[in-house]
Amino acid sequence: MTRTLRRRMGQNRVLRLLDGLERQPRADTVMDLVGRGVRALPLGGGRDLLHGRWLGHPVHPLMVQVPIGSWLSAAVLDLRPSRSREASLLIGVGLAAAAPAALAGAVDWAELHRPQQRVGLVHALANTAAVGLYAASLVCRAKGRTGAGRGFAYLGLTAAATGGMLGGHLAYRQAAGANHAEEVPHVVSEGWHRIGAVADFPAGQAVRRSVDDVPVLVVREPGGAVHALADRCSHLAGPLSEGTVEDGCVRCPWHGSVFRLSDGWNVRGPATAPQPAFDTRIVDGHVEVRLPEESSAESSPSTAEALP
Ligand code: FES
Repeated sequence: MTRTLRRRMGQNRVLRLLDGLERQPRADTVMDLVGRGVRALPLGGGRDLLHGRWLGHPVHPLMVQVPIGSWLSAAVLDLRPSRSREASLLIGVGLAAAAPAALAGAVDWAELHRPQQRVGLVHALANTAAVGLYAASLVCRAKGRTGAGRGFAYLGLTAAATGGMLGGHLAYRQAAGANHAEEVPHVVSEGWHRIGAVADFPAGQAVRRSVDDVPVLVVREPGGAVHALADRCSHLAGPLSEGTVEDGCVRCPWHGSVFRLSDGWNVRGPATAPQPAFDTRIVDGHVEVRLPEESSAESSPSTAEALP
């Protein structure tokens, strides 16, 4: 067997392991309990702060940079016995920063799909192991057992790297935390699109239409104004047209994100990105929508242009 083939088989094993993790239901009951507990935490407005709504994307990946960076730097310093004090300091910094990062990760995790939660649980367990090992490392160092302290620290780094790999799987392969409405300006063609007669849109009710195969939520106000947003929620693609319309907003039926109908702004998370909003007009008794010029101006080349 060639070395290349052996390497490919190894890669497939890792992928198969990770994909199998997504389908592993053994801990589902525990996850339900933990998820309910996390959602019940009295965080108030702090919950959106932890989701990263203020930043426009999840804040957890940003927060984990501090423990990972501190622990990696400590590992380098540990190669020089004379720098053990500095390494201990960095390990302490990493441990202090791990707590808020974990809380941010937990509030995101509680609002994910089940396969994502399964991977997220193992990601959290690996990182918890890292925290335990680094805490043991600090205790050993404080007792003068520097060699054992270094050993625990390197084990901790291995656990943190495993947690990081699972975090990457969650973010990139499973698209947890990605903006699920990002493609809309690239897919919808420019110009006005007719989506139905005014009478097809009962006042105050959410109606689903399609524009270039992109689902669109349409709500006509009793006063006559018509609002149109991309229907797939930016959080995890939930159908906003099946949500609740009230006070000029729509509430996603899946995890409760709230979007302003007039401009798609996400007034409440867990969605961290706003919802693409369409311009609307009524022509000859029909509703027409188009993407605002500034959002379609930056879109990709049209499919026709992209084809050879
Ligand atoms: S899909 Fe999660 S809030 Fe909409």
